[in-house]
Amino acid sequence: MNFYDAADSIIQEFIDSGYRHMLDIPNNKVWVTESTTSTLVFHKKNVVIEFYFFHPSMETPMHSHPFHNKIIFLGGDLIGHKQNPNDPLSKTSVALGDSHKLKLGPMMPAGILHGFTTGPIGGNLYNIQIWEHDIEYPVSAGVEYQGISLGPVHQKLINERIESGLQGK
Ligand SMILES: [Fe+2]
Repeated sequence: MNFYDAADSIIQEFIDSGYRHMLDIPNNKVWVTESTTSTLVFHKKNVVIEFYFFHPSMETPMHSHPFHNKIIFLGGDLIGHKQNPNDPLSKTSVALGDSHKLKLGPMMPAGILHGFTTGPIGGNLYNIQIWEHDIEYPVSAGVEYQGISLGPVHQKLINERIESGLQGK
């Protein structure tokens, strides 16, 4: 089975469990940045699932990650922005709503620029990291992050990961 099909069956395990959160992910914590609060809830092989709260009325810079990405939208006022691969200067924006709730979204390949904007109540989602290899030291998507940070608090988390030498491991 290739990494992608393997990831899909692992994600399905998480969904079939009723979104059961694992309590024993090593080194897990609550990651807080200027615009987000999140914690890991599931990790198996090449899949890392994280519960994300995007704070109210925030906007992330456009950024990318070294992993492939899916989301399960949970609720709130959340608009997703994605760079168009065939026209990198333009982007598509989608306001997430009831029709997206608890549905596994399409895969966004690693390296695609994207961002989020929230309204006054903020937004929640499960962010799913899909790597091409198994991950031993999972961390927040906000830490395995490429682009302009959300601020000095966020930048410090990124720097700590780089200094650890564990990026992508
Ligand atoms: Fe992202």
